Amino acid sequence: MSNPWLVVPLTEYEQHMSSVEVQQLGTLSDLFAEAIALCRPSSIAVLGIAGGNGLDQIDNSVTARVVGLDINPLYLEAVRQRYSHLPGLELHCVDLSEQYVALEPVQLVHAALIFEHAGVDYCLENALSMTAPGGNLSVVLQLPAGGGQTVGASQFSSIQNLESGFSVIGSAWLRKSLTERGFRLIHQATRSLPAGKGFWSGIFSAPEAHHRK
Ligand SMILES: C[S@@+](CC[C@H](N)C(=O)[O-])C[C@H]1O[C@@H](n2cnc3c(N)ncnc32)[C@H](O)[C@@H]1O
Repeated sequence: MSNPWLVVPLTEYEQHMSSVEVQQLGTLSDLFAEAIALCRPSSIAVLGIAGGNGLDQIDNSVTARVVGLDINPLYLEAVRQRYSHLPGLELHCVDLSEQYVALEPVQLVHAALIFEHAGVDYCLENALSMTAPGGNLSVVLQLPAGGGQTVGASQFSSIQNLESGFSVIGSAWLRKSLTERGFRLIHQATRSLPAGKGFWSGIFSAPEAHHRK
């Protein structure tokens, strides 16, 4: 079965994520801004970059390389058009859940709402191997909602189709798994969202030497 993200138009995704009932786009952008302010990375990779939410907050005088990865080539084309002025912009169309990605590691990997869709097998290994020794991994997870609904109600059927491929990832599980791999949590926060939802964000520092399992 082909990936449901391939048939979600970017305009529908962005309208849904910024709607009054969902309000996630702005919060995700704020969490990205927090990660770059804390880490001041010379290079960044964003896993599941969608339309490049938050890239406007990158300081060109600090960050010289920005790598965006996504399964949807039309999203990457939109990022290319919106952010062509960013120095060192590299865009890669990959399925993070099915392939290992071999790229020059970066100082900050930002993985926001990607593990829920791409799983924690290949995708987590990709996140870890892309983080340079001594660099940082920033993760945003959706907290379990009381009502059980994971993807917010939407007027767009393309968005409703994403629900079946969405799995809640526990922040405690993630912290434990990363600690076992030598990563250290240096900052965490939670953010409330409409409809009883919320985000957990965690920023980890990578050990000085680490390898793919
Ligand atoms: C919820 S959005 C991510 C939000 C974004 N990181 C932000 O901070 O605003 C999920 C993104 O992951 C991408 N995606 C989903 N599954 C993927 C996969 N298996 N490989 C690569 N990208 C994937 C989707 O196309 C979409 O752009």
